[in-house]
Amino acid sequence: MYLYGASGHAKVIIDMLNASKIKVDALFDDDLSINELMNIPVRHDWENETPVIISIGNNFTRKQIADKLQCEYGTAIHPSSVISPFATVGEGTVIMQGTIIQSSARIGRHCIINTGASIDHECIVEDFAHVSPKATLCGNVSVGEGAWIGAAAVVVPGVKIGRWSVVGAGSVVVSDIPDGVIAYGNPCRVRCVHNVINPKRIAIYGAGGLGREVAGGIQRINRAGLGNWELVGFYDDGKPKGFKVSHLGEVLGGMEDLNAVDKPLALAIAVGTPTSRRVIHDRITNPNISFPNLISPSFRVLDPSTFKIGEGNIIQDNCSVTCDVEIGSYNVLNGSNVLGHDVIVGDFNVMMPGVRLSGEVKVGNGNLLGVDSVILQRVKVGDNVTLGAGSVLMTKPKDGFTYIGVPAKKFDYE
Ligand SMILES: CC(C)(COP(=O)(O)OP(=O)(O)OC[C@H]1O[C@@H](n2cnc3c(N)ncnc32)[C@H](O)[C@@H]1OP(=O)(O)O)[C@@H](O)C(=O)NCCC(=O)NCCS
Repeated sequence: MYLYGASGHAKVIIDMLNASKIKVDALFDDDLSINELMNIPVRHDWENETPVIISIGNNFTRKQIADKLQCEYGTAIHPSSVISPFATVGEGTVIMQGTIIQSSARIGRHCIINTGASIDHECIVEDFAHVSPKATLCGNVSVGEGAWIGAAAVVVPGVKIGRWSVVGAGSVVVSDIPDGVIAYGNPCRVRCVHNVINPKRIAIYGAGGLGREVAGGIQRINRAGLGNWELVGFYDDGKPKGFKVSHLGEVLGGMEDLNAVDKPLALAIAVGTPTSRRVIHDRITNPNISFPNLISPSFRVLDPSTFKIGEGNIIQDNCSVTCDVEIGSYNVLNGSNVLGHDVIVGDFNVMMPGVRLSGEVKVGNGNLLGVDSVILQRVKVGDNVTLGAGSVLMTKPKDGFTYIGVPAKKFDYE
């Protein structure tokens, strides 16, 4: 047997196959830095070795790889699982330790039925779905393609879970869940859209360091299952077409090319100067271009019901806001930014890593707040102010000027 994906999930499958005395000859993985897993060689050059199991926990990635490989697949069924002879299990599926699959249940292709899950009579689990540890599907439940039922969730009889939806851990699902949503709780309720069904094309304007950071952030959003972006490449007027920005893509052209794009394309403006961000935005006249918020999975909102946000914002790792916070549009929060209660931020501001805004601070438009700078409570900042790295702003600055130091003072260029 061969495994595609040298992950933690693969480790469990190796154990399961060992228990059935099936030898894993090799694993395959695109990550060139992994060469071995549990004393089994990891190779990077799959040449149609079969049978293979796609040992990747993310349902959508498993589907993408299955679409690519198109070959003979194996299954891994742990001997401690109890499967009715009247149940069916599709190719590529793994049935883990201690699961029970009752009569006439139908489990599709490339599914994961995880440790101790219980699937009752006549359930249908479609391809690429994952039923997590200790989850219970009562009789006649159907789980759509690619859906993910969280650990210890309970789905009552006859309920339908939509395609590519997520049911949170510990939820009790008492009514049908539509396609493509994240739902959780007891009773389980739809909480938000889960963007995984159709990948959305996205490009980044800006082929510099911030562009590469934003590209990494997009991958992270995808990996967390909170988006399904297909990064098509970068736009930049200062670099030639075909310029390789990173392993994540190359320059597709400049503003003229961007304005000529003839199908829907999401865009992140990854330029760190507030004035340039606005100029770039204003030069985009193509109605096919949209500006989503790109928000790191690590972003924390203390009170989501009081949080407001516009469009085109980039929020990198470890930022947090408390309550009654409003963020306008096209801002960059470049990581570890903390915004206290009642903070209001306008448009086109750039906050470098570590910026902290105390309660009731108001920030207008086009301001650049340097690394680790702090604005004390209730201070109002207008427009186009630059605050130097490490500065602490204690009083209202004049629009368009630079302030530095502790306390921050107006800096006059000689
Ligand atoms: C449902 C789920 C996908 C949501 O993830 P997310 O979008 O990253 O959500 P967050 O962690 O940001 O939480 C958002 C809010 O929902 C709440 N929440 C998250 N998951 C929840 C759950 N399963 N039940 C109840 N509340 C939940 C959080 O407490 C948080 O509330 P707050 O905003 O009041 O603080 C995730 O929490 C989950 O349950 N995943 C399944 C994990 C699992 O079973 N793994 C098995 C692996 S084998």
